[in-house]
Amino acid sequence: MKPRGILMTEHRLIERMIVIIQKEIAEIERGRQIDKFTINPIIDFMRFYADQTHHGKEENILFRQLAKKEMTEEDSKLMAELIDEHKFARTATEDIINAEEKFFKGQNTIGIIITTFNSLVRLYPRHIQKEDDIFFPNSETYLTDEELEAMVTKFEDFDRTMIHKKYKSLIEQFEE
Ligand SMILES: [Fe+2]
Ligand SMILES: [Fe+2]
Repeated sequence: MKPRGILMTEHRLIERMIVIIQKEIAEIERGRQIDKFTINPIIDFMRFYADQTHHGKEENILFRQLAKKEMTEEDSKLMAELIDEHKFARTATEDIINAEEKFFKGQNTIGIIITTFNSLVRLYPRHIQKEDDIFFPNSETYLTDEELEAMVTKFEDFDRTMIHKKYKSLIEQFEE
C-alpha cells in the first residue's frame, strides 16, 4: 500500500465517526441529556485517532517531506489550507472538552457543544475530499517510489508509538 492508501483507510473510519456525531447531535437536539459515556469516547477518537494519529502522520511525515520539495503554488496553498483545517478541528475538539466540563459543573453549554460538533461535521467531509481527490494524488508527483516506500515505514513506526503515548498520558492524567 502507498502512504495515501493508509491515510485514506483512516479517512473511512473518520467518516464513520462523523455519522455517529451527527446522530448524537440529533439526539441532544431532541432533548436527550448530554451523556459522558457517549461524548467522552467521541472526544477520545477525535483527539487520539483523528488528530494525533491521523493528522500527526499527515503533518509530521507527509507534509514535512513535501515542504522540502518545489511544489506548485497551488499545491503549497492547498497544503497550508489543510494545516489550517487541522488546527480548526483541534481547537473545536478542545472547545467541546471545555464546554462539556462546564456543563457537568452546572452551566448550560449545550448550545456550544452542538454548534462545535456541527462545525466538525461540516469540516471533515470537505477536508477529506480535498485530500483524497486532489492533494494526495498531487503529492505523489513530488515523491519517488523509494520515498513513498520509506514513508510507509515511517507511518508504521509512527503508529506503533501511539498506543504507548495514549496510555502513558492516561497514567499521567490519573497522577495529576
Ligand atoms: Fe488532513
Ligand atoms: Fe486526512
